[in-house]
Amino acid sequence: MLAFFLILFAASLANSCPTPSGDSAGVPFVNVTTNGGSWLDNAGDGFGEPLNVIISGESSAEVLTQPGLLRWAQSIGFSTECLGIHLGAPQSANLGDGNGFVNQTIELREDYGVAEDGTCLESLIGGNHFRVYVQNGTLAPTGAFFLAVSKEEDAFDDHNIVPDGYNIGRDEMVAGAVGMTTFDGTTFNTTAVNMTNAMPAGSAGVNHGIAVDGAVILLTIMIV
Ligand SMILES: *[C@@H]1O[C@H](CO)[C@@H](O)[C@H](O)[C@H]1NC(C)=O
Ligand SMILES: *[C@@H]1O[C@H](CO)[C@@H](O)[C@H](O)[C@H]1NC(C)=O
Ligand SMILES: *[C@@H]1O[C@H](CO)[C@@H](O)[C@H](O)[C@H]1NC(C)=O
Ligand SMILES: *[C@@H]1O[C@H](CO)[C@@H](O)[C@H](O)[C@H]1NC(C)=O
Ligand SMILES: *[C@@H]1O[C@H](CO)[C@@H](O)[C@H](O)[C@H]1NC(C)=O
Repeated sequence: MLAFFLILFAASLANSCPTPSGDSAGVPFVNVTTNGGSWLDNAGDGFGEPLNVIISGESSAEVLTQPGLLRWAQSIGFSTECLGIHLGAPQSANLGDGNGFVNQTIELREDYGVAEDGTCLESLIGGNHFRVYVQNGTLAPTGAFFLAVSKEEDAFDDHNIVPDGYNIGRDEMVAGAVGMTTFDGTTFNTTAVNMTNAMPAGSAGVNHGIAVDGAVILLTIMIV
């Protein structure tokens, strides 16, 4: 409930305030379907995970780099995945930017805060994770990050997505991200807009046949 309120609050702020300027790039993102892309990535066998969170191309330029994204992710409790335990194969996505299907650049998992091995623990007990794709081809050079966010069972269940795990993973991740977060001296101000009906709702083509509600969250992340 609180999270829902925060999203509404952030959305109303985004609607009523001009976009912060300065180091903003200009365009939040381009609809992936405009130039033949898909809101589902390719997990193999014709199924995919929804690209259910976008980090706007109007975010701070420092955030729209891999090190910058990693720092922000660490500020909301994610870290690079545990290499030793990772079980899933890389996936690819077509963001309609002219690059066709491109492999994910990085995969991040929720860190349970157990020193350096927190992420390994996550792989064992389950949690949120996300894959990252960059929209930077010549047809849509926005620099936006498209995230496929999901919530998994623990490793003993073969890294299956929990029931409703795409919607739940997305909403949990966003609830933890909106507002001010800090990592290693950098403070981020994240606002969210819920774009309902951004992609087809339902389970057609979705990995594991898990239905999605069709909403995609647009995050704008400014370094304060
Ligand atoms: C994507 O990843 C797969 C699996 O690791 C690999 O076989 C393939 O060559 C990669 N494709 C590109 C374009 O890097
Ligand atoms: C697009 O992003 C990918 C992944 O970070 C990178 O390898 C590639 O060089 C970028 N392309 C351009 C044109 O910036
Ligand atoms: C976005 O909207 C959908 C559809 O109304 C809703 O189910 C979901 O909880 C919302 N997510 C967030 C983070 O506001
Ligand atoms: C965070 O971003 C919101 C929306 O742009 C803005 O209203 C608010 O003043 C920002 N907070 C800080 C501390 O920069
Ligand atoms: C993308 O385009 C499709 C087809 O016009 C539309 O249904 C969908 O709402 C658009 N999504 C966004 C996020 O603009």
